[in-house]
Amino acid sequence: MLDVLFQSTFTCMLCAVGILLVLQLLYSSFTSQGKWKEPPGPRPLQLLGNLLQLDLRRLDRSLFDLSKKYGPVFTVYFGFKKVVVLAGYRTVKQALLYHAEEFGDREVTPLFNDFNKGHGILFTNGDTWQEMRRFALTTLRDFGMGKRLSEEKIIEECHYLIEEFEQHKGKAFNSSQTIKYASSNILHAIMFGKRFGYKDPVLRAIVDRDDHTIHLSGSPSIMLYNLFPWLGPFISNWRKLMENVEANKLEIISKVEDLKNTLNTDSCRCFVDAFLHRKQSLEDSKTKNSHYTDDNLVYSVMNLLAAGTDTTGTTVQWCLLFMAKYPHIQDQVQEELDRVVGSRQVQVEDRKNLPYTDAVIHESQRLANIAPMAIPHKTSQDVTFQGYFIKKGTTVFPLLTSVLYDESEWENPQTFNPSHFLDKNGKFIRREAFMPFSAGRRVCLGESLARMELFLFFTSLLQRFCFTPAPGVTEDELDLTPIVGFTLTPSPHPLCAVSRQ
Ligand code: HEM
Repeated sequence: MLDVLFQSTFTCMLCAVGILLVLQLLYSSFTSQGKWKEPPGPRPLQLLGNLLQLDLRRLDRSLFDLSKKYGPVFTVYFGFKKVVVLAGYRTVKQALLYHAEEFGDREVTPLFNDFNKGHGILFTNGDTWQEMRRFALTTLRDFGMGKRLSEEKIIEECHYLIEEFEQHKGKAFNSSQTIKYASSNILHAIMFGKRFGYKDPVLRAIVDRDDHTIHLSGSPSIMLYNLFPWLGPFISNWRKLMENVEANKLEIISKVEDLKNTLNTDSCRCFVDAFLHRKQSLEDSKTKNSHYTDDNLVYSVMNLLAAGTDTTGTTVQWCLLFMAKYPHIQDQVQEELDRVVGSRQVQVEDRKNLPYTDAVIHESQRLANIAPMAIPHKTSQDVTFQGYFIKKGTTVFPLLTSVLYDESEWENPQTFNPSHFLDKNGKFIRREAFMPFSAGRRVCLGESLARMELFLFFTSLLQRFCFTPAPGVTEDELDLTPIVGFTLTPSPHPLCAVSRQ
C-alpha cells in the first residue's frame, strides 16, 4: 500500500517538475525574444547587485556612463533593489509624456516614508497625491503664482536681498544662506501670509535644517539605509535627519495653530487659510474620507517649503558663480540690462526684450543640473516600453543629467554656452531638451513661480552688482565641482558683490 502511495506521489512530482521546466522554457523564450524582455544592464552580484560598478558619490554621472553601454532603458540593482534607468532626451520625454500614467507614480523610499508618513504631495500616490497636488496648484495660482501678485512679492524681496548684499561693501562673502532665506520668504509669504527678516531665528532654523536634510539625504549611508531600513538607528545621518524633520514639523504646526486661532471665514490670508476653509466646508457638508486633514496640511506646507527653497536658492547661487567665472558673459548681460531697462526695477514683462539675459539664466539651469535624477518615480502598472517589459511597482530614475547633457541635443553639453538658447540673430529660442523641472504628471509644481523668481532675483542683482571672485582667487580657480546631496549645490565660494553705481 505504502509502495503504491510512494509511486503515485513520485509520478506527480515528476509531472510537476516537467510542467515547471516547460513553463520556464516558455518564459525564457518569451523574455529573450521580445514579448517580456526586460531592460538589459550590468550583471549584478548576489547580495550587492551593481553597487560595486557604481560611483555613489556621483551616481547620476555613473548611470549616464552606463547608458552609453546598455542603451537608453537599462536595469541596475542597488543590492536587491531593481531600478530601471531612463536616459537621453527622447527616452525620458517618451516615458514621462507619452506614458505619463504608467511612469507617473512616486517611489517612496523608506527615508521618504519616514519623512512624510503617507501625507502631503511629494511622496504620496493615488487619491491623496491627486487631491493635494490639485489643491496646491489652484491655491498657489490664486495667490499669484506666475502672475502679478507674486511678481510684487518677489520684487519686494529683491530689495531686501540687495540691502543685505550692500552691507558687505564689496568685500567677499558667502551668499548661499541669505539667498535661500530670500527664496523661502516668497513661499512663507504665500503659505503664512508674511515674510520674515533674514535674522529671524525661526526662518533661519527652518531653512538651515532643510538644507542639511537635502544634503544628507543623498549621502551613501542614507542610500544604504534605504536598502536595509533596519540599520536606521545605527546610522547617525538617519538619526540627524529624523531630528531635523521633526523640529521643522513642530515649527510648521505652531504657525498653523496661530493661523487657526485667528481664522476668519470672510477673509483668506494665505495657503493655510485656504486649506482650513476647504476643510471646514467639507466637514460642514459631512463629506466622508476627506483628504483635508491636519496631517495633509502640515506635510503639504513642509513639502512646498522644502521643494521650493533649496532648488531656487541653489540655482541663483549657480547663476552668480557662473557670472564671476565668466566675466565677459556677465558684461554682456549688464550691457543688455542697461540698454533695455536702465536703472528702473526690472519687471517680468521685460523678459521678452532681454534674450541674452534669458539665455544665460536657462544655460545656468542646464549646466547646474541641480536635480540630476529628478525624484525617483515608480511604474503604476505593467508597461512595455521600447520593447522592454517593466513590471508594476518598479523604481524608475528619469536621468535628467542625460537630458540636460544629451550630446545629440546640445552643441557643447559640457560648456557654459548661452548660445544654446539663441538663434543666429540673437533671438531667444526654446529648447525641448531643457527639462530641469522634469516633465509629465509629476512635473515640478512650482515651475512658473521658480522661473519668475530666478528671472527677477538674477536681473535685480546684476543691475546693482558686479560679481567677482574673492581677492587672490582667479576666475579659472573658481571651482564648479558641486557638492552632491539630493541636489547639486556649488561648493562654498565667497564672492564679492561690487556696487555698479
Ligand atoms: C529652480 C527651481 C526648481 C527646480 C529646478 C525644481 C525641480 C523639480 C524637479 C526635478 C521635480 C521632480 C519632478 C519629477 O519627479 O519628475 C520637482 C518636483 C516638485 N517641485 Fe520643484 N523645482 C524648483 C522649484 C520649486 C518651487 C519654487 C516649488 C514650490 C512652489 C516646487 C515644488 C515642487 C513639488 C511640490 C514637487 C513634487 C511634485 C509631485 O510629486 O507631484 N519646486 N521639482
